[in-house]
Amino acid sequence: MNIKTNFPDGFLWGGATAANQLEGAFLEDGKGWSTADTALYTKERRSLASITKRMESKDIDFAMEDKEGIYPKRTGIDHYHHYKEDIALFAEMGFKVYRFSISWPRIFPNGDGEVNEAGLAFYEKLIDECLKYGIEPLVTISHYEFPLALAKKQNGWESRKTIDAFVTYAKTLFTRYRGKVKYWLTFNEINIIGMTGYLSGGILADNVDNFMQAQYQAAHHQFVASALCVNLCHEMLPEAKIGCMLARMESYPETCKPEDVMESIYSDHNNLFYSDVQIRGYYPTYMNKFFKDNNINIVKEDEDDAILLNGTVDFMSFSYYMSGVSSANNDGEKTEGNILGTKKNPYLEASDWGWQIDPVGLRVTLHKLYDRYQIPLFIVENGLGAHDVVESNGEIHDEYRINYLRLHIEQMSIAIEEGVDLMGYTPWGCIDLVSASTSEMSKRYGFIYVDMDDEGNGTNIRSRKDSFYWYKKVIDTNGSDL
Ligand code: BG6
Repeated sequence: MNIKTNFPDGFLWGGATAANQLEGAFLEDGKGWSTADTALYTKERRSLASITKRMESKDIDFAMEDKEGIYPKRTGIDHYHHYKEDIALFAEMGFKVYRFSISWPRIFPNGDGEVNEAGLAFYEKLIDECLKYGIEPLVTISHYEFPLALAKKQNGWESRKTIDAFVTYAKTLFTRYRGKVKYWLTFNEINIIGMTGYLSGGILADNVDNFMQAQYQAAHHQFVASALCVNLCHEMLPEAKIGCMLARMESYPETCKPEDVMESIYSDHNNLFYSDVQIRGYYPTYMNKFFKDNNINIVKEDEDDAILLNGTVDFMSFSYYMSGVSSANNDGEKTEGNILGTKKNPYLEASDWGWQIDPVGLRVTLHKLYDRYQIPLFIVENGLGAHDVVESNGEIHDEYRINYLRLHIEQMSIAIEEGVDLMGYTPWGCIDLVSASTSEMSKRYGFIYVDMDDEGNGTNIRSRKDSFYWYKKVIDTNGSDL
């Protein structure tokens, strides 16, 4: 039975992508190497950490690697040359907002030093194209691609020097796109740095003795850099809003056994540590024991506490794909998940990639986050990665994707009715693009199909799936006709 939905006027409907997964043109017009350019496609490697594992060595020889494998993030869907066509399709669906990221090494090929005018000009054209259709750009300043030159030079975010490089990069964007971009995010899924370290953090494993220490030190540098950028944005662009972005991991206690409930609280600590710092402006005390138990000693400068306190974000954005299960014991069936696997929840179905589908979990999360922070929320990623089939007449009947999105949108509406302040919704991969975790093309999220396979073969032609027409209707009716 369908639920009657109701969304506020001005609700920001749209879609989300990231430069490293769709642009291609990886060394074109002066762009430098990024960590994402080293992500290999293989059938067996299934996680973010494993696809980049062997790239973490400081002696990596790219010439040799090139001969060995396929690197789909270097070619993406060639959005760099198709952006006008792609944005026209977003406009046809009625997007109010388009979330995309800017590639740091396209602007600063070496991460610092010389700025690349061609990179700045490309994003200016892209932004202007959005504005032409009345689509608000929502820009992620750093989304899973760190300039490789800075990884090699100073071990990425482990170095405090990277703060300056990042703030200079962000300031360059604020200056150039002043008056055009009203919504900004500093780091995509900032908590990923605590899980992999390389892709978003540029930390090369060979360079560190205690990888966990390096990851949390890097997270600290990102917190400081983000807070400085929040301040800078407020000063330079008073009309703009700037938010944080978390990969939200909702994790239920496996049973009502108190120990399972405690595990679920620990899971929240592990996940919400990042947004706690960025929204409250200080480190939560629950991390002290974690740091002690893991021999982590965060090196802070005297001014850091004040910087964090003065640089809290305007809104919280997050990705939500699935929920997990927390348990005091390790027995039982497991399933895959975004970033980490989890125990199987017997009440939920899962996607072809094992991600457990849980629309009500989105409402649970919306409430938890709003109760905790009391600032506007923005769902900037959600969606179903699935195998799509192109019929002989060219149509793509993706009712599984429509069902997934419909059920999640219903829960958003209920949450809003129950008092949650939700700004908008940008489903992930609104056009098919390369998977972050597996580098596959066949894990598709889009409303728009792109004819390209895992090995990079295909015409690259775009076509509208059934979900394209459905989402257009959803936006046309401000979410009341699902
Ligand atoms: C999020 C990332 O974790 O999940 C995106 O911000 C990513 O970059 C998305 O693409 C879906 O994950 P995947 O691995 O299916 O592409």
